[in-house]
Amino acid sequence: QADASRIHDDYLKCLQSQNSDSISTIAYTPRNTSYSSILQSTEQNLRPASTSLFKPTLILTPLHSSEIQAAIRCAKKHEIQIRVRSGGHDYEGLSYASTSPFVIVDLRNISSISVDRENRTAWVEAGATLGQLYYKIGETSRELAFVAGACPTVGVGGHFSGGGYSMLSRKFGLSVDHIIDAKIIDVNGQILDRRSMGEDLFWAIRGGGGASFGIIIAWKVSLVSVPEKVTVFNLTKTSDQNATQLVYQWQHIADKIDENLLIRLFITSSTSPQTGKKSIVVSFTSLFVGGIDQLLSLMQKSFPELGLAKEDCIEMSWLESIVYFANIPGAASVEVLLDRNSSKSYFKGKSDYVKKPISVKGLEGLWKRLFAEEEEDMEAYFQLQFSPYGGMMSEISESATPFPHRRGNIFMIHYIAGWDEKGNAESKRHVNWTRRIYSYMAAYVSKFPRAAYLNYRDLDLGVNKIKGNTSYKQASIWGTKYFNQNFDRLVHVKTKVDPSNFFRNEQSIPPLS
Ligand code: FDA
Repeated sequence: QADASRIHDDYLKCLQSQNSDSISTIAYTPRNTSYSSILQSTEQNLRPASTSLFKPTLILTPLHSSEIQAAIRCAKKHEIQIRVRSGGHDYEGLSYASTSPFVIVDLRNISSISVDRENRTAWVEAGATLGQLYYKIGETSRELAFVAGACPTVGVGGHFSGGGYSMLSRKFGLSVDHIIDAKIIDVNGQILDRRSMGEDLFWAIRGGGGASFGIIIAWKVSLVSVPEKVTVFNLTKTSDQNATQLVYQWQHIADKIDENLLIRLFITSSTSPQTGKKSIVVSFTSLFVGGIDQLLSLMQKSFPELGLAKEDCIEMSWLESIVYFANIPGAASVEVLLDRNSSKSYFKGKSDYVKKPISVKGLEGLWKRLFAEEEEDMEAYFQLQFSPYGGMMSEISESATPFPHRRGNIFMIHYIAGWDEKGNAESKRHVNWTRRIYSYMAAYVSKFPRAAYLNYRDLDLGVNKIKGNTSYKQASIWGTKYFNQNFDRLVHVKTKVDPSNFFRNEQSIPPLS
């Protein structure tokens, strides 16, 4: 760490020589009183933050792209590793925790958004959050929307470069399917747009993870049309209300039902304090791009077993639906979307893809594993999310972007264990729960490769070597899980644009040596 500090002092001097006016206002070293609050403010997952081998020796919060260019050029000169952070929601904290010395380029101040209503496009800088983008679009028009995740404090820098699953994904696909231009600063400190970076690199950063290729400073996206009112519902069913059978039936319609409708399941368990009886609790959480009457007749035809009634449904603008799904306590208005602060916790997540409906027996085995954990532990939560695919997700070819999970996937499973400070003494046990349940699910999910979603990053799938080069063969163990056959093209692009592997982390794409 002492050596690292000295090297970073030289780095700071290099930056000062390039940006003498501004550097003191954007650089935070551990000696600075604001260092900890800047570092922690967007560490969404406290687990990697608490176990990280190194803390950043410097945090830069650039105000202009010229400062990012200098950050890259000086880092190259002094062989410093850079981690770039936009919203800080990486599941393994790769934007703020590391197994080797590093500095953070934190893009919180590079966050302006301009919406072009007439052409139905927007330029959004990488440090903006999804909530800020949604708000700005809603301010411009209530009939325009964008396809991206449900959590408003996620950053567009990481989210768009890894996919971007949305409550609108069955109708419109992913965020990456709506990116039409981007600005990136490459390993030489050059600012490139779509034309100057070329189609290979533009392809790679739309789902292949931006951190392997450069620092993305802005995206141009095309907006989608939505009606003035959409319909939402959140219907909860327990074991006594036939939840297992409903989940089983849901698997047969989830990817086939009208593409205007997305029904996502959030599954937890509970124990009755009176009887001690365990139950599964399934929330059928839905967005329908249309009105209540249309939705009711659709549900009557395709999923009558759920028993959806008019009083379960609420019509609202698409922007209001964002606040509804974000489930922000006390949120009274859409202004809450502008808030970058989020409640943080310790968590571990994993993902899977399901291509054939899971049998009732398989589901019961899954519930059993949820029940077992609930019994032992009240300091933590354990949740499954089933996110349906089909619709537009199946219309886009596997190679159109690096994100390969298209036709043939019924739904994605997300396993998550979360806990707070008190539960942290048992963190190993909570993490192991995700591993045990993942191991049980092997029989029911995709195989060869067992696919995973990059935005739910999981270092259990494999990591690069800390020192020296990771071979193509080693990296393909996790690489094919995230990218399937697109992994080869990502390696090819990496080799072309960053042969010295300057932009690297525990799970970055390696160049061919
Ligand atoms: P962060 O800043 O941590 O970056 C993530 C990764 O991208 C890091 O490797 C980082 O270095 C790199 N990176 C960031 N900015 C970059 C830039 N400008 N240029 C190059 N590389 C850059 N996903 C989803 O699809 N749908 C959803 O609904 C949700 N919901 C959700 C809720 C919550 C609470 C969490 C914690 C996460 C999600 N996600 C999600 C997952 C989310 O999409 C994923 O974690 C993103 O990578 C987060 O992007 P951030 O910019 O916030 O993270």
